[in-house]
Amino acid sequence: MHKEVFSKQLDFAALLHDVSNIFEGASLIVNQIIDGAYGCSLEEIRPFLIALQQTNKRGVDLIESRRVNEEVGVVNVTQFDVLVFLQKNYSQFKPIAQYYSLNLHYQTQASYKHGTQVRGDSISIDRMLCNLVTNAIKYTKKGDIFLRLLNQGDDLIIEIEDTGCGIATEQLSNIFIPFWRSPQSRLSEKPGRGMGLYIAWIVAYAHGLSIRVDSVATQGTKFTIQFPYKDDGIYGVDGRMLPKSQRLQDALPV
Ligand SMILES: Nc1ncnc2c1ncn2[C@@H]1O[C@H](COP(=O)(O)OP(=O)(O)OP(=O)(O)O)[C@@H](O)[C@H]1O
Ligand SMILES: [Mg+2]
Repeated sequence: MHKEVFSKQLDFAALLHDVSNIFEGASLIVNQIIDGAYGCSLEEIRPFLIALQQTNKRGVDLIESRRVNEEVGVVNVTQFDVLVFLQKNYSQFKPIAQYYSLNLHYQTQASYKHGTQVRGDSISIDRMLCNLVTNAIKYTKKGDIFLRLLNQGDDLIIEIEDTGCGIATEQLSNIFIPFWRSPQSRLSEKPGRGMGLYIAWIVAYAHGLSIRVDSVATQGTKFTIQFPYKDDGIYGVDGRMLPKSQRLQDALPV
């Protein structure tokens, strides 16, 4: 198949994947509200209604940005505070983690050496993070999940760590390949298409970020996203992002 057609199909499959994950997340929150898991009064359920509202907004924003991207052909690069951004992510995923009896923690530093301002396509960065947190929840039967924002030297680091099933060392080189799932995942009752980590990789690549995985089978997995320090004190992209076709060709770890 022609490379461009393939990359367009892959892009569309990735979009469907993320939209369907958003619907699934919203359903989980609604089901819990209906079951009375958070209480019955409006005050008790308000934080979960807000999480639901934000989850819906993510879906609308994702589709809208895709529409603009198709029609105008530009990626919307903005500057935002990643500390606030992660806090929002945390409150959206907290009820979903709770649904699976997992504890989601958000750990931050009291202060950051060069602040926490990032320039980039916030919708794509959100997709990268959501896929990593969704995986952490999906591949952890019991225990904790940590979302962290920290400095390593001058760099800004996001960590997503779980205490789940882990990934065997010999499989680690495959995980970012589209449609790859570990043999255990394929046999498990957990549905999936092997798209989440591919999406995370593409987004990291387009923003000039590095994404690393440390995992011990049966113990847990940690994904580390590194925003290299820039002279102007703002992390992320400088100007325009890499064109899509180039991104796909260069980014695939195969
Ligand atoms: N946090 C994790 N812990 C253990 N294994 C993981 C973790 N994240 C990913 N994996 C492994 O990497 C594979 C690829 O992950 P990826 O997110 O791309 O696909 P998926 O979760 O199987 O399906 P999809 O994301 O399309 O719903 C998974 O099938 C799983 O085997
Ligand atoms: Mg996944």
